[in-house]
Amino acid sequence: MPEKKYTFIDLFAGIGGFHQAMHSVGGKCVFASEWDKFARISYEANYSEIEPALFEKDKDGKYKFFNEDINDANPEDIPDFDVCCGGFPCQAFSIAGLKRGFEDTRGTLFFNIANIVKYKKEHGHAPKVLFMENVKGLKMHDKGNTLKIILATLDELGYDYRVEVLNAKYFGVPQNRERLFIIAWDKDQIPEADFKFPYGIDKNGQTIFEKERAKIDCIETHVCDIFEPRNTLDNPNDTNSKVTISDRMWIGHQERKKRNKENGKGFGYSLFL
Ligand SMILES: C[S@@+](CC[C@H](N)C(=O)[O-])C[C@H]1O[C@@H](n2cnc3c(N)ncnc32)[C@H](O)[C@@H]1O
Repeated sequence: MPEKKYTFIDLFAGIGGFHQAMHSVGGKCVFASEWDKFARISYEANYSEIEPALFEKDKDGKYKFFNEDINDANPEDIPDFDVCCGGFPCQAFSIAGLKRGFEDTRGTLFFNIANIVKYKKEHGHAPKVLFMENVKGLKMHDKGNTLKIILATLDELGYDYRVEVLNAKYFGVPQNRERLFIIAWDKDQIPEADFKFPYGIDKNGQTIFEKERAKIDCIETHVCDIFEPRNTLDNPNDTNSKVTISDRMWIGHQERKKRNKENGKGFGYSLFL
């Protein structure tokens, strides 16, 4: 288990992509928020062993630090933390064009992030770093207005930032998945940040910091590289198998593939033997 060096909160936590990464580099999660019932079950299954305190319950059996709807979270009840992680859903700001800052974000889920940061800052515990993820389309969402207001809000809160679109396929993940990342840091605590985005990982496991080199030198990963070894799986003929889909679903997949092919579409399952 890595030595714990800093604390973080995990907002819009999903099944815990941020948690996985932050834990691997010494982060201790002190608060998480996710409202989807099934994502919560996965999240707890994934992290209850490495972070048991996160799933502590009060005397009424309610989670103390594993919040459901972020709108119900009171910043006062959130433990102080160093880093705020959040893959917040992308929403337009309705009062665009007024102050272009914190007040313009009210009523959106980004406001919840900004509000927690504001509260902590006003109470002398400003988070050092904000680590946010969104769809690539955030750049042009509402003609660029949404990102403009987010960045103006960070500025108003005293944070400097960098924004970049990164692709998972250059980081050893077999998926062509582009996402926009915003890294922001508190100027009072980190006045001279020399932050550089990583663009990929090379074949020797070294970080690539030059955007153009990522395409050429990145480690190549295929879907079959990440599968569980065949000999560790259940017997596929066993109808109680945990990793085998039902006969009905399998027939459905085959029919959909056939239909798509007939309609000139390539979408469907593939076999990895
Ligand atoms: C883009 S996903 C984030 C995925 C996450 N980074 C992961 O690794 O799985 C956004 C998540 O925000 C959650 N969400 C949306 N509105 C929420 C709310 N009001 N309170 C808490 N979670 C919310 C959704 O259920 C969804 O899982």
